[in-house]
Amino acid sequence: MTKRYAATLLFAGAGLISTTVFAQTPPFGQAEDTDYAEKVWSAMVDKNLAGDGAIHAFPYTGSQPHGEMLETFYTNAEIDGHSGSLIIKRNYLGEEASDVLVDPGAAMDSVTVMFKREDGYDTENQDWFYAKFAPDGSLQSNPQGIPLAGRVAKGNAEAGCIACHSKATGEDFLYTTDRSDW
Ligand code: HEC
Repeated sequence: MTKRYAATLLFAGAGLISTTVFAQTPPFGQAEDTDYAEKVWSAMVDKNLAGDGAIHAFPYTGSQPHGEMLETFYTNAEIDGHSGSLIIKRNYLGEEASDVLVDPGAAMDSVTVMFKREDGYDTENQDWFYAKFAPDGSLQSNPQGIPLAGRVAKGNAEAGCIACHSKATGEDFLYTTDRSDW
């Protein structure tokens, strides 16, 4: 075996190990994240903001990637003794508010949530916890099968909740506060 070949093998091996380590511990979708997301969903149900009997707002025209019609709610919740802002966005399929109002359950595609966690949770990203739920409260997953809960997808500058929300003007990671048409 030539030296160069050995070095190449070593390099490829190191790449494989680091990829494997990363694949095992992405900064989201771990048991602690999915457990936490369950608590967030329960808090939403308690506030009548999710589940059967959830209150509705008048849906408005959305923007990608969230859906054609949206409802957004801003509130506070207490989870594990920590109180923080909870922002809930319901994402609907349909082009008109009436498509949603006739049968919101049938039109609902997903529920995306941001919850402001305790200081130090994710300092450089303003401590937001992200989750994407199906209408029944189960978590949706990314194409790799990793549940979308936690710091989604920290470290990936191309894709994921953080990559896009970090670009919102005002440096607060929030987009709805920037809309000029409201
Ligand atoms: C490619 C960009 C992009 C990605 C990726 C993205 N969002 Fe958003 N998000 C937006 C935009 C734009 C809005 C404002 C939509 C509107 O007009 O109401 C928004 C709004 C929101 C809001 C309401 C608070 C706010 O920012 O105004 C929540 C909550 C939210 N997104 C959660 C998520 C979650 C959870 C994920 C990941 C699963 C995610 N988003 C991925 C662009 C993105």
